[in-house]
Amino acid sequence: MEKSAINGKKIAAGKAIGYIKSGMTLGLGTGSTAYWAIQGIGELVKNGLSVRAIATSKQSEALARELQIPLIPFSEIDHLDVTIDGADEVDEHLNLIKGGGGALLREKIVASATKFYIIIVDQSKLVTKLGKFPLPVEVTPFGWELTMRRLTALGCNPKMRMTDNKPFLTDNSHYILDCSFGSIDNPALLHEQVSGITGVMEDGFFINMADVVIAGSPDGDAEVIVNASKK
Ligand code: 5RP
Repeated sequence: MEKSAINGKKIAAGKAIGYIKSGMTLGLGTGSTAYWAIQGIGELVKNGLSVRAIATSKQSEALARELQIPLIPFSEIDHLDVTIDGADEVDEHLNLIKGGGGALLREKIVASATKFYIIIVDQSKLVTKLGKFPLPVEVTPFGWELTMRRLTALGCNPKMRMTDNKPFLTDNSHYILDCSFGSIDNPALLHEQVSGITGVMEDGFFINMADVVIAGSPDGDAEVIVNASKK
């Protein structure tokens, strides 16, 4: 990974943890940017901050355990105060594409239960229109070939995500189809169309979910972009 990208991510994460207060319930994101936020939360917990958290992936859960961040199940709560997560692309309306790390389903469940959803990125993730990054779509292994043809009919070129020459399996034992649509004019409409296909468990569009996006730059600045439509 490029050094400048790492710095921007860490700077955004550092700014985001400023929103956390003792007593809060937190959602912990997934990926190399969320990693820095979890590290920061671990440091705060070490210094006496009292929070409880739900992680968006087995990987982030393992990191949280290592840092002794108290974890709780959804049986104990029905909302989270703050979630900090990364994104693969952020457009001008703060719509997102997520799922580059394959955690989109858990990430969306956590996001949907969150009162204040903070997205942290390095500046390179800010785009005018979504779509350069292929849209991750989580699908059931049963019938995936049919689901893939239905996705293709929406105008994309889906590719099965692979790891070690085998289909990548999500934490929920599903496949991921990465769908290249090119520049997307109406992400909300496409989200409805994709998520309406039987066999699609979740897609990587996060439409109007972020309350704030924090974009870090390698020179140490962090731009805080507030979602005016969610105020
Ligand atoms: C994982 C995600 C990540 O937040 C997204 O892929 C960004 O990752 P990174 O912070 O490593 O660039 O959605 O499913």
